[in-house]
Amino acid sequence: MKKAIRIVMTLVVMWTGLLAGPRVLALSLSVEEPIPKGLVDYLIPRFTLKTRVRFDRVIDNGDLSFTVNPHEGAVSIFKLVGGRTGYLTATEAALEDPSYERFRDWLLSPPGRATISDYREDDRTIAEPVDVKAKAAISVVIVGDLDAGKILSVSHCRRCHKVDRADKYSGMDSSPSFHAMRSFDDWFVRFSIFYTVSPHKALIQVAGSGIDQNPDLIPIAPIKLTFNDINDIVAFVHSLEPLDLGKPVQMNP
Ligand code: HEC
Repeated sequence: MKKAIRIVMTLVVMWTGLLAGPRVLALSLSVEEPIPKGLVDYLIPRFTLKTRVRFDRVIDNGDLSFTVNPHEGAVSIFKLVGGRTGYLTATEAALEDPSYERFRDWLLSPPGRATISDYREDDRTIAEPVDVKAKAAISVVIVGDLDAGKILSVSHCRRCHKVDRADKYSGMDSSPSFHAMRSFDDWFVRFSIFYTVSPHKALIQVAGSGIDQNPDLIPIAPIKLTFNDINDIVAFVHSLEPLDLGKPVQMNP
């Protein structure tokens, strides 16, 4: 009889063990002075709601920690009203943890950033998200005609800019090539408004732009374009393969 009870007990223990499944340990997280605890209390549940990732809150020395004293691997997350930067740091082991990566990425994402600026104490914002280094995505809408743009570029811009990479004898040294400019993050903006900056301002007239020149000051016949022409040039430049200007300069290596 006793033996039977023991077997049943063992089965029950095994069964509950199976139900619990493999235990996943949550990372612990602490908040150091002077980071407002309320801000972190506001962020965590919103992150957890979205991702089901939980953290064990501890008083100090968490696997993850919000701090104003960065050490290696710290990621700046927000600026407090006093001007100090709040960082998320992680122990070496936690840096590899997918929960840490998700939390960090969420804090830097538009929803995470919005949550940071939403938090208020006494009706005042306490922290602003830091500027994210990642490029802001500019949506580029191409409406022009590529072939017309090529003809316009060759007839009006080639005198100063290398427009076609294969064309060895075009352009002047002082003017960047179209391919080089195509590699700029803001090529679209530059090519949409180039007629507003010198030296073009003096010689290119775009009908309806409101920018007029004094014809006496212009040594060559002014180049007359329309907004449609500008769209065509933009479409042509869009089709160019950007020149690889190498890696961007690292401001904070
Ligand atoms: C008389 C020579 C000349 C002609 C013609 C000319 N450009 Fe330029 N362009 C320049 C120079 C010089 C610069 C560099 C200005 C600088 O570095 O400040 C420049 C710069 C630019 C830039 C970069 C502007 C910026 O924001 O930095 C664009 C875009 C551009 N040109 C487009 C054109 C297009 C398109 C045409 C033809 C419709 C054209 N250019 C015709 C001389 C010329």
